[in-house]
Amino acid sequence: MTEVETSSTSNSSDSSPRSHYERIGAAPAVKAAVELFYDRVLADRDLVGYFEKIDMVEQRRHMVLMLTTVLGGPDNYTGRSLTEAHQPLNIPVEHYARVGQHLAQTLTELGVPDDILADVRAVLARVQDQVVASGH
Ligand code: HEM
Repeated sequence: MTEVETSSTSNSSDSSPRSHYERIGAAPAVKAAVELFYDRVLADRDLVGYFEKIDMVEQRRHMVLMLTTVLGGPDNYTGRSLTEAHQPLNIPVEHYARVGQHLAQTLTELGVPDDILADVRAVLARVQDQVVASGH
């Protein structure tokens, strides 16, 4: 298993605090995490159906950009809002929780530090109402 970079040594030329994005190893680490994450999601019988007709190359690209932003990296996300993308899918809270578990497990496997994981979990909790079908 490839470990992402978690060293806390700071950049010699830059003394500003490093973002979560930089601490985990920037673009290559986020790309690796998104690959592993969707491998897990697509291997989950309860979730694979949602993605049957979805272009997974585009999907992974969107998620890389979104996770980059969530981790404090460059903000280049130009996809739809979470509400627009997910409300038509009628996602129950159980499936939302499963996706969150797959993401947390992926980041844990990659050696992402606990404080970053806690922040990601907090973001997941904040967006729940946008992703889960209203009424569920
Ligand atoms: C938990 C937080 C989640 C985040 C941050 C997230 C993020 C995203 C992003 C960035 C997109 C691309 C939007 C676009 O096309 O412009 C997307 C689309 C999609 N998501 Fe999520 N997602 C989440 C949860 C879920 C869950 C729980 C499911 C299913 C159980 C799901 C299924 C999908 C599907 C099927 C699409 C493609 C929709 C389409 O292209 O019509 N997502 N998601």
